[in-house]
Amino acid sequence: MVQLTLPKGSKPAKGKVHKAPKGAKNVKTYKVYRYDPEVDAGPRWDVFEVSADDHGPMLLDALIHIKNTIDPTLTFRRSCREGICGSCSMNIDGRNTLACTKGWDDCASSTIAIAPLPHQPVVKDLVTDLSLFYAQYDSIQPYLQSDTPDPEKERLQSPADREKLDGLYECILCACCSTSCPSYWWNQTEYLGPAALLQAYRWIADSRDDATDKRLDDLEDPFKLYRCHTIMNCAQVCPKGLNPAKAIAETKKLMVSPSRKKTPAAA
Ligand code: SF4
Ligand code: F3S
Ligand code: FES
Repeated sequence: MVQLTLPKGSKPAKGKVHKAPKGAKNVKTYKVYRYDPEVDAGPRWDVFEVSADDHGPMLLDALIHIKNTIDPTLTFRRSCREGICGSCSMNIDGRNTLACTKGWDDCASSTIAIAPLPHQPVVKDLVTDLSLFYAQYDSIQPYLQSDTPDPEKERLQSPADREKLDGLYECILCACCSTSCPSYWWNQTEYLGPAALLQAYRWIADSRDDATDKRLDDLEDPFKLYRCHTIMNCAQVCPKGLNPAKAIAETKKLMVSPSRKKTPAAA
């Protein structure tokens, strides 16, 4: 059962306000979603005023500063701090993005709201349970499937074929796209969502992979692929500048291509 980040009809309560020390300069205000489902009756917004002079330029720097100096219980994920691992994805001022590549100076609002990725079960504060998201990634079999034996060296690919993977291989599985997609919010146990579908197309488009027909057959279902209704939030928010909607459209085209050969099980 999917638990929504914000239960329908309810808003997080007002939480603690941590004022900046007197005389602090360049003060920014952060409204941070706090919720520990094991002990809290419901979510709340805690407010932190901090001097931007005391930390680095990114929102992740602000969160680390808050955790180190004001509230060590504040919980969030991070690892690489440079937009590569995808672990610091969260909702900042209403938009999913990576906290480590978003500058606090780029936020227009006077109070910057920081919440977990929407419509995912909250584990604690800004950390959501992405088990379903990863299971969906696993379901598209994200690895090369070739009919030919492993070569002694690399499998060669022409520059033109290699270029077809641009805009696909860069995905860091941050889940910003899937958790911004309304179709995914309402059908996430059946619809694979933009991230898994972009990854599926990454293998479909790979000239070295021989499982294209089977991969397409696996997506032949009223929900898995066809619940994309071209809402485009996915392409708007992707912090790597990728376009999952385009990958989904290309997959839909291949589904009805005259050259498609259905496997006996799907025919
Ligand atoms: Fe993240 Fe973009 Fe990959 Fe979606 S397509 S998971 S937003 S990197
Ligand atoms: Fe969703 Fe993107 Fe399709 S936002 S409906 S996956 S175009
Ligand atoms: Fe790795 Fe932000 S910490 S992407």
